[in-house]
Amino acid sequence: ATVSATGVAYEGPERGRDPRAQAGEFLTTPNGVRIPDTDHSLKAGRRGPVLLEDFHLREKIMHFDHERIPERVVHARGAGAHGVFTAYGNAAGVTRAAVLAEEGLETPVFVRFSTVLGSRGSADTVRDTRGFATKFYTKEGTWDLVGNNMPVFFIQDAIKFPDIIHAGKPHPDREIPQAQSAHDTFWDFVTLHTEATHHTIWNMSDRGIPRSYRTMEGFGIHTFRLVNADGETSLVKFHWKPKLGVHSLIWEEAQIAAGVDPDFHRRDLADAIEAGAYPEWELGIQVMPDNAEETFEGIDLLDPTKIVPEELCPVQRIGKLVLTGNPTNYFAETEQVAFHTGHLVPGIEGTNDPLLQGRNFSYLDTQLSRLGGPNFTQIPINRPHAPVNDNSRDGFHQHGIHEGVVAYKPNGIDGDAPAVADAAHGGYVNVPREVEGEVVRGAPASFDDHFSHAALFYASLSADEQKHVAEAYTFELGKVYEQAIKERALTVLAKIDTGLCRAVAEGLGLPAPEGTPVEHLAPSPALAQVTGESYPIE
Ligand code: HEM
Repeated sequence: ATVSATGVAYEGPERGRDPRAQAGEFLTTPNGVRIPDTDHSLKAGRRGPVLLEDFHLREKIMHFDHERIPERVVHARGAGAHGVFTAYGNAAGVTRAAVLAEEGLETPVFVRFSTVLGSRGSADTVRDTRGFATKFYTKEGTWDLVGNNMPVFFIQDAIKFPDIIHAGKPHPDREIPQAQSAHDTFWDFVTLHTEATHHTIWNMSDRGIPRSYRTMEGFGIHTFRLVNADGETSLVKFHWKPKLGVHSLIWEEAQIAAGVDPDFHRRDLADAIEAGAYPEWELGIQVMPDNAEETFEGIDLLDPTKIVPEELCPVQRIGKLVLTGNPTNYFAETEQVAFHTGHLVPGIEGTNDPLLQGRNFSYLDTQLSRLGGPNFTQIPINRPHAPVNDNSRDGFHQHGIHEGVVAYKPNGIDGDAPAVADAAHGGYVNVPREVEGEVVRGAPASFDDHFSHAALFYASLSADEQKHVAEAYTFELGKVYEQAIKERALTVLAKIDTGLCRAVAEGLGLPAPEGTPVEHLAPSPALAQVTGESYPIE
């Protein structure tokens, strides 16, 4: 017999909550024994001592002692919301994933926005990248799109993630600064490991201080592979486009808000939803041919520090996300939700981007300790909305009461149930791909270009936006103690733009180094006239 691993079917509007939890008429122990008094411990005489036999006291304190679970090692501060994703149906030509392909199909989602570096109690409006993670509870299983509000990342290979995060987190001796990048270790790392240059300039731009979660774009960053019903593939990048447009704070506003209302973004999101002003985004894809080189117009699609300019490959909108519900309980939902880049559904595959491949290991691994054992898909917010029959057994916090003796395959006892599914029956069948080459620790030569996309980004900004970038570098580098790090940062800026380098050097009171900026693609609006070859999905 098919037994749900959770033992409890998802209950629609109840969002998987166990309706029995804390709903009884009387106060009880966790075992349901009614309590006559929760204000006094059991004592030998009114003046004590307290007795070890007071099981209510011990259970109550024991539970309280363990109420905090470890916060996320990154993206610890976040805010979440429930919503619905509706597919337009125009992606059916490129993917067989029903969530994207089936016209009008509504899929429930949970979205969590976050900062990256601050701890759970840090301020919302600090200069940082923002997480934009979406869990689609599709009828074919859970799909997570774990993105950010910037289209590129600091590093090209997941093996550098501990390094960039150790450099960016507060200094280990004083645990400061709590939430900003303005310190020596961060600038030391990003100026030595120059593949971080592109992401860093996005952080120093207005994108690093969004006005609201509702006014942020989101990006899947990596190139993904879509597969259609005929097994044909294309390479895509995912984009979230906010209905309200992209808006940022100015630095003074961000600083004041961080002091006056550290919950600025969290409050804005919850208030908007409560008022019925439901935040909306459209999901778009840039669709590129799946060629052997995995490049597009000379851009390496496996390099997560590079973008594909929208003028070269337009973003085609394929569905709409509307956030309609605030979490009922922050801990149960926003804190316990577990996203994972390896949560994919048939029709959506990853690529060989080495950053993505490392992430596919990291999320499960961290959740094993953060959420206490291997059964966190049974936590209500993480339960799939598709039947589960995974032959798993036992482990910490097992909620399923599995019946029968068979939890293995093949078996001759249960008619070899459950059956395996081929692609025609909704099975996740990977598209066969050739792999060849020597086993090496290394990267392709195209990964050596660290500056041309940073220069392209800077050149695409308006004069006011460029001024904000120069002011941000000046402010942040002004907090660095080591003179050598500031000087090294200026040599990086000299490769991006001479004017930017001079403005920051002047702000820091240092000489501007000589240097010729790198060549880059022409920025918008010149590029806007280039139609490029677009790959229409209809
Ligand atoms: C958490 C995005 C790279 C490890 C997150 C979250 C987001 C995110 C949005 C928060 C998820 C939530 O709200 O619960 C990204 C993006 C990346 C990236 C867009 C690059 C394109 C990496 C890499 C690693 C990594 C390279 C490790 C090698 C983690 C871990 C967490 C996390 C361990 C905490 C997860 C948890 O506790 O549930 N990331 N990340 N990330 N990320 Fe990443």
